[in-house]
Amino acid sequence: MDSRQKDLVKDSWEKLRPDVDRAAELFYTRLFEENPTLRELFRGELGEQGKRLMTMLGTAVGKLDQLEAVTPMLHELGRRHEAYGVRAEHYETFQDALMWTLQNVLGADFYPEVEDAWGAFYETLSRAMIDGAEKAA
Ligand code: HEM
Repeated sequence: MDSRQKDLVKDSWEKLRPDVDRAAELFYTRLFEENPTLRELFRGELGEQGKRLMTMLGTAVGKLDQLEAVTPMLHELGRRHEAYGVRAEHYETFQDALMWTLQNVLGADFYPEVEDAWGAFYETLSRAMIDGAEKAA
């Protein structure tokens, strides 16, 4: 990710912040519409889970200038996801639902350059998580 992309992700995250609860709800609705079989992997309460997801995204956005510092944490997160039953191919569906959610909540602020920046950001996070899961195997 270049510095312009990092700035775009940071700025759009700030815009999303007041609406994170609504974003989380939209996100899971969309995710389970896209792949209903994923629903059964989520055993806990979804409202709480949405908060954990958004907190983790916020942490990663906060560390955008030093993502290497959070790589070990992302490896661990990926290993836990393996244990939840999450497989590498699920990360694509998750990305589609996340992008759709950002588009919905941010509207015109989610223009193509912002979308590309989020694509690069998600790619970095998911790569680290999948790497962590694969190393554990
Ligand atoms: C960038 C990608 C992702 C991030 C940042 C993320 C973040 C999180 C966080 C913070 C938790 C809380 C539990 C923990 O820390 O271990 C969690 C749980 C979980 N995530 Fe993810 N996740 C991502 C991708 C995915 C994908 C691709 C799936 C596949 C459907 C998924 C399914 C789950 C499930 C099933 C749980 C456990 C929920 C429960 O116990 O009810 N996540 N995730």
